[in-house]
Amino acid sequence: MSDQTLSNLLKEDRRFEPPADLAAAANVQEEAYARADADPEAFWAEQAERLSWDTPWSQVLDWSDPPFAKWFVDGKINAAYNCVDRHVEEGRGDKVAIHFVGEPEGDTRDLTYSELKDLVSQAANTLADLGVEAGDRVAIYMPMIPEAIVAMLACARIGAPHMVVFGGFSSDALASRIEDCQAKVVITSDGGYRRGAASGLKPAVDEAVAKAAEAGHQVEKVLVVKRTGQDLGPDGWNDDLDVWWHDSVEKASTEHTPEAFDAEHPLFIMYTSGTTGKPKGILHTTGGYLTGAAYTHWAIFDLKPDDVYWCTADIGWITGHSYITYGPLANGVTQVLYEGTPDSPERGRWWKIIEDNKVTIFYTAPTAIRSFMKQGREIPDQRDLSSLRLLGSVGEPINPEAYVWYRHVIGGDRTPVVDTWWQTETGMILISPLPGVTPGKPGSAMIPLPGIAADVVNEEGESVPDGSGGYLVLTQPWPAMLRTIWGDDERFKDTYWSRFPANAERPTPWYFAGDGAKKDDDGDLWILGRVDDVMNVSGHRLSTTEIESALVSHPKVAEAAVVGAKDEDTGQAVVAFVILRDEAIAEADEPGEGEDVVKELRQHVRTQIGPIATPRQIMVVPELPKTRSGKIMRRLLRDVAEHREVGDVTTLADSSVMDLISAGVSSGKED
Ligand code: WT7
Repeated sequence: MSDQTLSNLLKEDRRFEPPADLAAAANVQEEAYARADADPEAFWAEQAERLSWDTPWSQVLDWSDPPFAKWFVDGKINAAYNCVDRHVEEGRGDKVAIHFVGEPEGDTRDLTYSELKDLVSQAANTLADLGVEAGDRVAIYMPMIPEAIVAMLACARIGAPHMVVFGGFSSDALASRIEDCQAKVVITSDGGYRRGAASGLKPAVDEAVAKAAEAGHQVEKVLVVKRTGQDLGPDGWNDDLDVWWHDSVEKASTEHTPEAFDAEHPLFIMYTSGTTGKPKGILHTTGGYLTGAAYTHWAIFDLKPDDVYWCTADIGWITGHSYITYGPLANGVTQVLYEGTPDSPERGRWWKIIEDNKVTIFYTAPTAIRSFMKQGREIPDQRDLSSLRLLGSVGEPINPEAYVWYRHVIGGDRTPVVDTWWQTETGMILISPLPGVTPGKPGSAMIPLPGIAADVVNEEGESVPDGSGGYLVLTQPWPAMLRTIWGDDERFKDTYWSRFPANAERPTPWYFAGDGAKKDDDGDLWILGRVDDVMNVSGHRLSTTEIESALVSHPKVAEAAVVGAKDEDTGQAVVAFVILRDEAIAEADEPGEGEDVVKELRQHVRTQIGPIATPRQIMVVPELPKTRSGKIMRRLLRDVAEHREVGDVTTLADSSVMDLISAGVSSGKED
């Protein structure tokens, strides 16, 4: 982020106090901060009591072998029992758990907690029949339909860690994740509805299963929900492998006794991008994760029994895990689950869903808010949004203008906006206002939650004074923290805990999140985005290296460098610089062929990773700017991509390179 943007941001002086009625009845009051500060372990133990434990823990936190934490040591718990059964047992079986809204208009379905319990039990029985045992990994690749949540909870119920892959990812991305965690079973559907049409998922699973087999890993079964009824083609069904959900789950017994698992039993793996090309399998465990997700959902969204909650994330991301499946269901909420895109069949679809279901709490991403802002307030103004009482934002820094628009147009100036900072790794929100306590400043995630120890520090690890910026760190463990990277403890230590290791002043290492942040004059936190080679496109994390590897795997590409450039709609956009191989250069020089190469490469990235990774621009360049040691200077490429004057080039091995690149760009060699 440039200094100019920074100082613009920090000139922001609008402030919104919590509404008096909300504040008076808020679930969490100011006293929580001091109480948690005085004894964080006692505070988290109190939050864990919100759940139903089979066996109580003997120790709240074991941090004797950092960075490997154990929370609620010796405790035993079943996550699915906590998300469904106990609500039924406590008399809330008829409460709606899920208002499902399919993308085709009129395609709705309500599921009560009793119905959800039956389905989860049936799916658990089916998975057991298919040979899945506690500890086995199950991949889930599904659209946003109730069965996706059922699948996750069925895995949790039998102690089989799930690994959900976003349905927009390609078969290659699915295959590498299946292989990395050695998934035994894949749960999918024939397809889902997107933008008014059936869009297939099963064919990608077939490809991924075949690729994994080539690499030596055989998936044993594929469980398939029939959602669209689309034709799977002559080779689209394999009787040895494939099992229909309606032939198995829906015929299984609804009786299933959940087994209690150790608090540290793996609950799920979620892959996310890092600074290298290989996605990291972030491992979350059971007791601490569920405590963190449930508490933060209740506290930050000030959840009340009659609320209707809607989080627009996909279950393929961590937000869908913590704030659709685990947090909300552990809290017994009624929530909306929407299958499709915001603009299908019309641009006001989301606002219609809020009106129809009288949604009271709404949680979405800045990129969506910006796109609605662009379309104009006439669209949401056509709907009655007066049921809303609280709005949330997640995924990237929210621009103050988008925040104010969100609060004003969607929230009618009644609703606080909670800007929630967290990550796949943190499992739960860590920095956010509490809506009844903390005022909102547009663009600021404000302060760490009670029980969370965060700071902004300089290179030496010294806390920076108010008014300055630095690295965002977490100085104490928290219950939903990642436990490791699947199969790679060393990478876990290196990636998160090596920047600020234990030393004389610091008895245990600090977690470095990869984000820069600034404290304003009041000490409130402004998250400034990533400081490493990771981009944030529409709230989704992508690694520059991962996309570079995809580009270089194309036969026409000799070298590639990828940067994240500022983008009005998506926050950041992928911009790629590629050097073609000699043969390809000759071809590209033919009239019209240059554009074809760019098209081909964009398509290649789509199939290798998925549409979200598609470069906004690919620039074919003769050279890349490198230091004498051969490191690509992405900073300079970012200058070009953001149309800035190119910065200091004195450390370049060949300083004329930037002239060549800039010349190529201005002569229009762009996509
Ligand atoms: C990265 C984590 C957490 C669920 C969605 C993304 C950025 C996230 C905020 C926010 C500023 C934010 C950070 C973080 N980020 N929320 N409220 N303000 N930045 O999960 O893919 O693990 O990405 O998203 O850069 O490190 P993720």
